[in-house]
Amino acid sequence: MRLVARNAEETRAVGARLAAAIVAADLEDPLVVGLTGDLGAGKTTLVGGLLEALGHAGAVRSPTYTLIEPYLLAGRDVVHCDLYRLRHPGELEDLGLRDLMTSRSVLLVEWPARGGDCLGTPDLSLELGYLDDGRTVEFRAGSTRGRQVLSRLSSTNSDEFHVSS
Ligand SMILES: Nc1ncnc2c1ncn2[C@@H]1O[C@H](COP(=O)(O)OP(=O)(O)OP(=O)(O)O)[C@@H](O)[C@H]1O
Ligand SMILES: [Mg+2]
Repeated sequence: MRLVARNAEETRAVGARLAAAIVAADLEDPLVVGLTGDLGAGKTTLVGGLLEALGHAGAVRSPTYTLIEPYLLAGRDVVHCDLYRLRHPGELEDLGLRDLMTSRSVLLVEWPARGGDCLGTPDLSLELGYLDDGRTVEFRAGSTRGRQVLSRLSSTNSDEFHVSS
């Protein structure tokens, strides 16, 4: 599935829509969402919309240097990671990411490839791309859980999105 966001507010709305699909899917295992796309593609913006939809008030700190920012939202451990500055995948162990992976956790990972095998294949992959006037968000499921969320996502009707497939 591919969505088009014409401005940053629409990117945040894509994040909010993903939040609703994750809550509706009511998963019993952790969900790993990988966000790829060039620098400035809108990954943190999308995560901001998702966190706000789950009840986070205030600004979202980009974990550029801390690499990991945990939240407790809607009864879930939501962990926002930015692995751009990860020096090697083993560093993820040192950061205690595994301890943050509870059954009710949702991991939102920017630059997931830098985590190597430590992270595994994301349940859901979002690839953000540039348009002349906005961004595209391409969704891909990597597991049964990912497919569950994706089917919720594609079944929610929303006029403010330009769904192209
Ligand atoms: N759909 C959109 N159209 C135009 N601008 C957008 C859109 N979505 C986000 N932006 C803008 O793009 C800029 C970069 O966004 P953001 O920081 O979320 O990118 P990022 O992918 O997290 O970058 P990095 O790889 O550095 O972490 C911000 O100024 C944001 O407002
Ligand atoms: Mg970012």
